[in-house]
Amino acid sequence: MADNKRIVLSSDHAAIDMRQAIAKHIAEKGWEVVDIGPTTPESTHYPKHGEAAAQKVASGDCALGIILCGTGQGIMMAANKVKGIRCGVCADPFSARMTREHNDANMLSIGARVIGESLALEIVDAFLDAEFEGGRHGTRVDMIKAIEA
Ligand code: RB5
Repeated sequence: MADNKRIVLSSDHAAIDMRQAIAKHIAEKGWEVVDIGPTTPESTHYPKHGEAAAQKVASGDCALGIILCGTGQGIMMAANKVKGIRCGVCADPFSARMTREHNDANMLSIGARVIGESLALEIVDAFLDAEFEGGRHGTRVDMIKAIEA
């Protein structure tokens, strides 16, 4: 289980509509959504939004995070620079489930210019409904943590 039911959401300008749809969806699933924006459509810089969301997870304020940009790639790279963050970009539900079960991902990144909203919501469900399996996967995640240390 996640440590708490608080989840942070952020994006750049390319993904505001999809982020807001995800926020509504996961609030209906019982999560306390911490949506840190942005809310206006002006062009912005994904690294600062990825880092801000990642800090919420790394600090323990939020158990999990979902971030979005056009491709999901840039904001994922920024989030993964924050110590303690394991963020995967997913464009299918199987990968979203596996990145929780095997990689203990604590953040999910989605490309709003890559997939449609319905698929994005399925991916979010797969991510949130999955649990880390531990065992041999724990050994491997510990190896990732050792690289970071
Ligand atoms: C913004 O145009 C775009 O570069 C950004 O949303 C993202 O796709 C970067 O990885």
